[in-house]
Amino acid sequence: MNDTPPQQRSPQRIALLPGDGIGKDVTAEAVKVLEAAGARWNLPLELVSLPWDADRYLETGESLPEGALEDLRDNYSSIFIGAYGDPRVPDMAHAKDILLGIRFGLDLFINFRPVKLYDPSLCPLKNKGQEDVDFVVFRENTEGAYVSIGGNFKKGTADEVAVQEEIHTRKGVERILRAAFDYAVAHGKTQVCMADKSNVMQYAHDLWQRCFAELGEEYSQIETRHLYVDALTMQMIRAPESFEVIVTNNMFGDIVTDLGAALQGGLGLAASANLHPGRVSMFEPVHGSAPKYAGTGRANPMGAVLSAALMLEDLGHQEASAAVEGAVIEAIRQGETTADLGGSRSTSEVGDYLAKAVS
Ligand code: NAD
Ligand code: IPM
Ligand code: MN
Repeated sequence: MNDTPPQQRSPQRIALLPGDGIGKDVTAEAVKVLEAAGARWNLPLELVSLPWDADRYLETGESLPEGALEDLRDNYSSIFIGAYGDPRVPDMAHAKDILLGIRFGLDLFINFRPVKLYDPSLCPLKNKGQEDVDFVVFRENTEGAYVSIGGNFKKGTADEVAVQEEIHTRKGVERILRAAFDYAVAHGKTQVCMADKSNVMQYAHDLWQRCFAELGEEYSQIETRHLYVDALTMQMIRAPESFEVIVTNNMFGDIVTDLGAALQGGLGLAASANLHPGRVSMFEPVHGSAPKYAGTGRANPMGAVLSAALMLEDLGHQEASAAVEGAVIEAIRQGETTADLGGSRSTSEVGDYLAKAVS
């Protein structure tokens, strides 16, 4: 166990896991931008590629090598992931081991997903502008429906029964709610909205209700708002300006952040951080491996690049992080984008533009 905080390790070693499909394409561009920022600000970054992907899994049967989690925990400052998912592995076995394995194994309980409209032209909503779409989602990242507890009875027969459990612990619920409240306080926000489905999940999501009410009293300066998740999706479209911080469980957070990505211009733009304060964190675009775009030059690398900006910030390089975000904003303004944002540039042309802009 390495007691040195990840940010203070020297050099700041970053594990790069490009993964599958367009994960590889967008990671290559994020690397260009990280290298450019590293050179310009003389950052102590050391990028180390780890070839854990579907190809390797299919060849060797190994997904996450033995000892990998301890190695990441002790010998790196950060982890960057492209995306996982390959049609040849329909049960996502390797992705579960690697992606969820890192989230769970390193106990990265905060999945932080900002939703920010960088340019008014990208908003799919009528009469909404940049000031209307600017909130963050705190997704619980280590419990809920993702715990893989369940099974099949009489599998493959007409009498088959499938059971899949959700787990919600007071400790787990409290710590993600607290993270959301702390973020609100630290960033001058006035409201935290918690979304659940406690009208149906009367045990599990009632725990969220009770914890939220208790913490709301502690953070009395923050307005507490509650929405059932179905109403949340409606309000995200109808009045996105009414949100500052949303906090919710693992699966609802997964779903509503794809919706959030659409509000900001598409999945190609959405960034995320998997965090546990004081420990090695993991950064990744919100999108998946989009196999049909793999290697075609059509993937938008901006979500990956913005995830790299979140990583730079976490590593203490605020100026570099802001410059990378600024380069993305400028590229969008200049139309230096891939087709999903209306441009005609390829994945690597966008990466080259962004790397040059931060150089
Ligand atoms: P996806 O995010 O890969 O793609 C959905 C659609 O969004 C694509 O068809 C494309 O139109 C668009 N899109 C996504 N990323 C884009 C980008 N960078 N540039 C331009 N357009 C982009 O989701 P999916 O099709 O549901 O899943 C494909 C695979 O990825 C599956 O195996 C899934 O399990 C996996 N997945 C992985 C992650 C992850 O690694 N974090 C996240 C989501 C899905
Ligand atoms: C995400 C993805 C993953 C999730 C999948 C690939 C397991 O959709 O990161 O949003 O559900 O968390
Ligand atoms: Mn998702």
